[in-house]
Amino acid sequence: GPVLHVTGARPNFPKAAPVYRALAERGVSQQLVHTGQHYGQQMFDVFLRQLDLPRPDVDLGVGSGSHAAQTAAVLTAVEDLLLERRPALLVVYGDVNSTVAAALAAAKLGIRVAHVEAGLRSFDRTMPEEINRVVTDRIADTLFATSPDAVAHLGNEGIAADRIHLVGNPMIDTLLAHLDRFDAAKARAEHGLDGPYVVATLHRPANVDHPADAAELVHAVHAVADQADVVLPLHPRGRERLRSVGLFTHPRVRVLEPLGYVEFLGLVRGAEAVVTDSGGVQEETTVLGVPCLTIRPNTERPVTITHGTNRLVTRATLAAEVEQRLRAGRPRTWPTPPLWDGHAGQRIADVIVREI
Ligand code: UD1
Ligand code: UDP
Repeated sequence: GPVLHVTGARPNFPKAAPVYRALAERGVSQQLVHTGQHYGQQMFDVFLRQLDLPRPDVDLGVGSGSHAAQTAAVLTAVEDLLLERRPALLVVYGDVNSTVAAALAAAKLGIRVAHVEAGLRSFDRTMPEEINRVVTDRIADTLFATSPDAVAHLGNEGIAADRIHLVGNPMIDTLLAHLDRFDAAKARAEHGLDGPYVVATLHRPANVDHPADAAELVHAVHAVADQADVVLPLHPRGRERLRSVGLFTHPRVRVLEPLGYVEFLGLVRGAEAVVTDSGGVQEETTVLGVPCLTIRPNTERPVTITHGTNRLVTRATLAAEVEQRLRAGRPRTWPTPPLWDGHAGQRIADVIVREI
């Protein structure tokens, strides 16, 4: 049978694209399955177009829902598909509900599962993604890690070393492959920015779901806007939740629809700093050398702090941290995590070819 890749949400596409391409170069028969967790022009179509991914062979169309409802819908739809296609291997990416559901469906049918971006741990079970990561790694047969800390976590959890492969970061393959297209000057012109500016993204339930927290967050972002223009492409979850607390009224906060991959990273490339609660954005800013302030009490991506530009902040410390970054300016040189070199997809494909 073919290799079957499952994507569900926005951050899955830049992880899957280099693996898909490297397997195609090796002549491997493969199919792309989208669960439909994310959908529409700005959360789905634009990524296929910009990242040269083919239209998925199947879109399961599961859409939005509670954790149980969404996970269950992916679980049943993927089971049907696996019975029909009988793949040699199922490849899942990251930590979204689609990832854990697809992995579980395959594991129960005795179909081998490979997990790309295995072993990341925030050790914070209040994050839905942490539960998805722990469960997916537990049932995966082959585990691809982006960083040494992830390899260590998997080892500590009793996973045999010969199933764990430190391969680097496929999301960074995609970043480096498209670097020439990230046009900061064009982004400035498009958004009418002429001074220093900050890009922000906010969508984590812990930040936006509770009205009192969300209101404090809006307040913290307003304090940033007192210092620089803030461009805030809002994920649908952030948009819904933050609207309920009166959204942003500061004249220097520009709230936008989610941006395409190329437009977003063009904007990030020219920013003085990024304020985020995203996982992937912590990694991308690390490689671009753009200071990143992560509004979270923890991160499952510690190499972005030890080998990158990332710092953890709170709503209370955010404005002062931004002020420091604006004063210090962008770093001239910065370290990059080991193996984040643009060849992770190739390394993953080499292992997969050996195993199928
Ligand atoms: C999901 C992931 C999260 C990831 C994020 C990336 C889980 C548990 N969460 O969060 O890890 O960081 O994607 O972007 O899998 N909606 C739309 N359009 C869409 C998708 C969602 O309008 O294309 C709205 C719906 O109202 C939905 C809400 O956003 O209820 C949340 O969507 P959901 O897929 O449940 O989780 P995300 O917050 O997107
Ligand atoms: N991204 C994008 N447009 C946006 C915001 C983010 O293309 O408006 C990209 C970003 O560059 C990264 C991915 O989406 O490649 C990160 O996804 P997200 O923050 O939604 O999820 P997380 O990484 O937190 O799971």
